[in-house]
Amino acid sequence: MQFDQKISALQKQIQGYSREELLWFNGYLSGLLANNQIATTAQLESIAPTIQLNPVVLYGSETGNSKKLAFELLKLFKQNNIQARCFDLATYKVKQLAKEEFVLFICSTQGEGEAPVSAQRFFGELEHEALDLSTLSYSVLGLGDSSYPLFCKAAEDLQILLNKHGGVLSIASQKLDVDYKTAAHQWFKEVINHVLNKSVTPIHNAVENRQELNTQPKEISTRTKRSYKGIIGHSIILNDRESNKKTYHIELESDEELDYSPGDAVGIYPKNKHEVCAEIATLFKATDRAFELEKLTITGLSGNTLKKLEDILTIEVTDKRIDLIDLLNLYPANKQVTFDQLLTVLVPMSPRLYSISSSALTNSHQVTITVALAEFESNGVNKSGVCSSFLSSLSVGQDIEFYIHPNSEFYLPNADTDIVMVGPGTGIAPFRSFLQHRDLRGDSGRNWLFFGEQHFVCDFYYQTEIQQWLESGVLTKLDTAFSRDQKYKIYVQDRLRQQSKQLWQWIESGAILYVCGQKSPMSQDVENALVEIIRENTQSSEEQAVAYLDTMFLNGQYKKDVY
Ligand SMILES: Cc1cc2nc3c(=O)[nH]c(=O)nc-3n(C[C@H](O)[C@H](O)[C@H](O)COP(=O)(O)OP(=O)(O)OC[C@H]3O[C@@H](n4cnc5c(N)ncnc54)[C@H](O)[C@@H]3O)c2cc1C
Ligand SMILES: Cc1cc2nc3c(=O)[nH]c(=O)nc-3n(C[C@H](O)[C@H](O)[C@H](O)COP(=O)(O)O)c2cc1C
Repeated sequence: MQFDQKISALQKQIQGYSREELLWFNGYLSGLLANNQIATTAQLESIAPTIQLNPVVLYGSETGNSKKLAFELLKLFKQNNIQARCFDLATYKVKQLAKEEFVLFICSTQGEGEAPVSAQRFFGELEHEALDLSTLSYSVLGLGDSSYPLFCKAAEDLQILLNKHGGVLSIASQKLDVDYKTAAHQWFKEVINHVLNKSVTPIHNAVENRQELNTQPKEISTRTKRSYKGIIGHSIILNDRESNKKTYHIELESDEELDYSPGDAVGIYPKNKHEVCAEIATLFKATDRAFELEKLTITGLSGNTLKKLEDILTIEVTDKRIDLIDLLNLYPANKQVTFDQLLTVLVPMSPRLYSISSSALTNSHQVTITVALAEFESNGVNKSGVCSSFLSSLSVGQDIEFYIHPNSEFYLPNADTDIVMVGPGTGIAPFRSFLQHRDLRGDSGRNWLFFGEQHFVCDFYYQTEIQQWLESGVLTKLDTAFSRDQKYKIYVQDRLRQQSKQLWQWIESGAILYVCGQKSPMSQDVENALVEIIRENTQSSEEQAVAYLDTMFLNGQYKKDVY
């Protein structure tokens, strides 16, 4: 196409674009040019016109890590002139698989060895539908955490199911731990090479492209999990007496130097209450072996374990979730089972994560966490969560083992970049760490905090510190939402909407937006508010605003750590 034809095609294309969209594309193109990601005319001419394999990237993701990798791979395909498509397993129809040639799955494991919730329909259909996948070649990149007993189980299950239907594994699948980035980029390289080698592209071009592969991760995480022995240095309830909540500020101290960054979490393997273990062991005439139950999952049983218990005890359980002791009391066994048989169906307890609420710059031998006691009702009885009650029961001086769970997605930006932090409830934890860190480093970037809880007088966690940061200017802006202090409920998402114009100015000038706390309903409500704010400020449709927020997430301007 002639240059003037290209100009007129471009003008036609951008006719309906708003000023903000044009500004965004302007920045996007500058970024590509700056990073040499736009091919020169000579390079374009050397690129072969046809590539035969049409790869499809399918991702299953709960917290976005697999999704980000999927879009990185898609971008890499595009950079190598390979036509590829990318879909969420949440919306992808299993029957479509039989029509694909080459599928790259990127899928995390969640819960206790399960697929992410959004991918569970796909897994179910793959298990039960009759499919012929003999013309499909595939590979699976599993994301997981080796601290969990069922490491990358969903990826393993996926591979078993694909093989069952005749799928052909064409590149070795990988199971990656929390420091997954470097290994993921290595797998990307293999995938791209595989496609280029299978294509009709003349070999010299393929080699050229391979050399140009932009497979270096932006940030290579070299920090892996490290366990520490420590003691409880301090533990206090942050709520006042009249509160409905019990949220603890707990300081863990160690003789060792603790290696962590703001945004990381502490991982803890809880122990079951001894009296409950003893009660269960006694039912199986093994009182002296109660300690063997201490680190196994015996509370909130669901899914696979429930099924196995139904089988060995020959019972039918109607509860969706139940503690083992309640199950044994409510559903008398129809078959006698030994303590050893019981142990074979119980799985080791998964660790629980708690966002770090301190900066190592204040005290490198201490790490603090902000723990809400999980309280709920089960079979008409008030209960509390196994780890949060374990942590809240520990007193000063007691031993505790913990590990640092590095988070390669949730971290502070450059010192001069502005940040907006939305952290209601225990979501405040990483932002206390961020603010301590930025204060001590003297970062010049502006900091805006949105905090919310039920009541100002009894639930304003870290109020004194936050107000000091506001006075000293470390905190540029503070917006609070105490939901039950007035007739109508007010939440952080309402404060975000009220600040729409100013928030938009911060976002447009490059501020990073962080959200931490409850996944449901908080993070979804915040996301809906953000979509409205984008719509209002860009005069865009809902679909465009959702896409805009998604792009912010994929390029790291919007970061979530929700649970
Ligand atoms: C990255 C990350 C960061 C986190 N940061 C924090 C943080 O800073 N602060 C914080 O407080 N939490 C945080 N969490 C959550 C934390 O890891 C735990 O999930 C939380 O403390 C609950 O664990 P638990 O063992 O106390 O409860 P569990 O025993 O695991 O119970 C959890 C829930 O399961 C259900 N349940 C359990 N047993 C039964 C039963 N018998 N019948 C019916 N339902 C049942 C209940 O709904 C209960 O609330 C974070 C999580 C992640 C993933
Ligand atoms: C509550 C919870 C449960 C998890 N369970 C497992 C598990 O059973 N096995 C595993 O290998 N990883 C487990 N993980 C780790 C995740 O798979 C890992 O963090 C992954 O990078 C998440 O990717 P995603 O953001 O694409 O979902 C769990 C993580 C969380 C937060």
